[in-house]
Amino acid sequence: MYKSLIRPILFKFDPEEVHYFTFSMLKNFPFLTKLFLPKPIVDKRLEREVFGLKFKNPVGLAAGFDKNAVLFEELSNLGFGFVEIGTLTPKGQPGNEKTRLFRLKEDSAIINRMGFNNEGVDAAVERLKKNKNVLIGGNIGKNKVTPNEEAVNDYKICFEKLFPYVDYFVVNVSSPNTPNLRELQDKEPLTQLLGTLQQMNTEKANPKPILLKIAPDLSDDQLLDIIDIVKETKIAGVIATNTTLSREGLNSKNKSEMGGLSGKPLTKRSTEVIRFLSEKSNRAFPIIGVGGIHTAKDAIEKLDAGASLIQLYTGFIYEGPELINEINQELLKRASRLPR
Ligand SMILES: Cc1cc2nc3c(=O)[nH]c(=O)nc-3n(C[C@H](O)[C@H](O)[C@H](O)COP(=O)(O)O)c2cc1C
Repeated sequence: MYKSLIRPILFKFDPEEVHYFTFSMLKNFPFLTKLFLPKPIVDKRLEREVFGLKFKNPVGLAAGFDKNAVLFEELSNLGFGFVEIGTLTPKGQPGNEKTRLFRLKEDSAIINRMGFNNEGVDAAVERLKKNKNVLIGGNIGKNKVTPNEEAVNDYKICFEKLFPYVDYFVVNVSSPNTPNLRELQDKEPLTQLLGTLQQMNTEKANPKPILLKIAPDLSDDQLLDIIDIVKETKIAGVIATNTTLSREGLNSKNKSEMGGLSGKPLTKRSTEVIRFLSEKSNRAFPIIGVGGIHTAKDAIEKLDAGASLIQLYTGFIYEGPELINEINQELLKRASRLPR
């Protein structure tokens, strides 16, 4: 239904306008979801326990889609096992100038240079107060105007304000669209940032899992550093990966737009990163796998490479909400093949 009827219409319009239109449809006309979309699969065999949290299934929505925590309830009703909100910054900010979101149809990909457009952490907190039972990840970043030397403070503010309202945290230092942000992935600043947040975390009565979200463009040496840092700071795990700066093998006319590339061209690299981290760390920490999952097979490959959970963004746009069920269906097929 989505690919044959809904997508051809949506793809005729500007991607960012379509994003807001879809939001308002899902929010204001929930009966349309019930009418046009398949019922989510609920099955005990899909449940996963990771970082001490119980997920109703391993397929989550990646950060950037519901930046302001407006739609987590509706997205959970579509079948997602968890929803990651953000990236949130302490103060609201408009992001980069429009146009900043591009479809690369021939490549089943997207380029975005949104630049952390969001209403700020306080607005999200107000909405999250109404959350009843959706498992929420809080993805946090720094404001554009905050220099890197003061970045830790921005992450601390978001961490403290969101703490009562999210189930896990994601420290985002891997977006290519905030100037110099990726420099925070270097060993020294990253150890300091994660160490500070983990210190605040352990002082709480019930600490929450903190994950680090990394870029797919890191070298093997940088990935080995990441493993050391995760172990040293004792954070809970890694999300691999964010969007890429690579433009290899693209055919669409928008291929030269600046920003982060997501979707099919990212599938292989992000799986490689997951496998590398998993093998070189001896599975020392859980990984959430994200990047170019457009089929159940893509999802299984990430799980087989070492991911405990997976997330979708671009695949959700191209394949529709049916993709969630397709992946869960495949996981159930596999579960029934396993010896009991
Ligand atoms: C339009 C858009 C906005 C995004 N915004 C964020 C963001 O704010 N924070 C973040 O950590 N990742 C963000 N991402 C990256 C996704 O969460 C995901 O890591 C990446 O797109 C790779 O997955 P995919 O190929 O399934 O899209 C964004 C991606 C897109 C396409």
